[in-house]
This record gives sequence, structure tokens and C-alpha cells, in this order.
Amino acid sequence: MIRALPLAILAVSGIPAATAVAQTDTAPDNVAVGYEEDGRYYTEDGVPTYNIAEDGTVDWLTYSGFRRYHSECHVCHGPEGEGGSYAPALKGPAVTMDYYDFVDVVTNGRERVSASQQSVMPAFGTNPNVMCYLDDIYTYLKARGTGALPRGRPPKKEDKSDAIREAENACLGT
Ligand code: HEC
Repeated sequence: MIRALPLAILAVSGIPAATAVAQTDTAPDNVAVGYEEDGRYYTEDGVPTYNIAEDGTVDWLTYSGFRRYHSECHVCHGPEGEGGSYAPALKGPAVTMDYYDFVDVVTNGRERVSASQQSVMPAFGTNPNVMCYLDDIYTYLKARGTGALPRGRPPKKEDKSDAIREAENACLGT
């Protein structure tokens, strides 16, 4: 939010985008875009990440993740990754947690049971509506976690690339 506002003003005032500080320039290592491949963005280490242009256009996965998160995770983890009464916030962990740990928890679940409380994260490993969109959900939460993406449905998005469409169809078996 803090960074998005001045960029929007720059865009309106007609200053070329190149002079504006891209969100990636100040982002932590596990967030900054290293390269793009067929509409997907990765850090230098090959971990999925989001990309938000100066005009607020989000990459397809981040947009898709907004929708998938709210259909599959929001019931426990609260709206916009903010946390719910039953499960912790995810927007912070998406930035601080190792990507592969994140994938592992969602795939295999996690349980913490004590005398005073029972905390169960279900395993989603056999649920295609989650597994085929895991990177989408992860990048969306990461964008929420750094504050790059404000609350609400992202107003502008990149087109869905052919490669993303093909991978989705293959994953869903359609
Ligand atoms: C039925 C409720 C429920 C649903 C639905 C759910 N979770 Fe969870 N999740 C939990 C609980 C409870 C925990 C805390 C588990 C613990 O205490 O170890 C958790 C923990 C996690 C963690 C670990 C966070 C950390 O800080 O270590 C991740 C990552 C996670 N969930 C991702 C997801 C994603 C992504 C979805 C949607 C695909 C999802 N969860 C859907 C209940 C849920």
C-alpha cells in the first residue's frame, strides 16, 4: 500500500515507468522476481513469486490465488490471509516460511493436539482444486504478506498464458 500509492501518482503524472522503483527492487530475497517463464514469475532460486506492475496489474497466478484461497482456505484461515478464529494468518508465513515447507504442510496436513487444544490443518494432497493451484495460492499470500497487494479482488490482471492453461488442464485431467 505504501509503495503502491506513489507509483500510481507517478503513472498518472506521465513520468516513465522506468524511473519508478519497481516493487521487486525493495523486496526480500525470497520475494524479488528473478525471472519470468510463460507468465509465471520466480525468484532467482526458482521459487514461485508474484509480480505487480506499476499500474497495479497482477500476474495471473496471484489473481487466481485470490479466488482459490477464498474458496478453499478462507473458511479456517480468515479472509485475505488475515487469520481466523480456527487457524492462524497465512500472509506472514507465506513470506517467512520455506516454500517447500509450505507445500508440505498443505499436501500432508499438520496436527497439534494437546490437553487444552486441538489444532488440525487438513491434508489437501488428493484435492485437485488445491493441488493444481498451490503456487497460485502461495504467490497470492506472499503478495498479501509483503503488503504489495491490498485487500480485495485485484482490479487488473495479466492474461492467462497458454502454458498455464495447459498445465492446469493436465493437472485436472480434463
Ligand atoms: C479446516 C480448517 C483449515 C482449512 C480449510 C485450511 N487450513 Fe491451513 N491450517 C489449519 C490449522 C488449524 C493450522 C494450524 C496447524 C498447527 O497448529 O500446526 C493450519 C496451518 C496451515 C499452515 C502452516 C502455517 C504456519 O505458520 O506454519 C499453512 C501453510 C496452511 N495451513 C495453509 C493452508 C492452505 C493453503 C489452505 C487452503 C488450501 C488451508 N491451509 C486450509 C486449518 C485449516
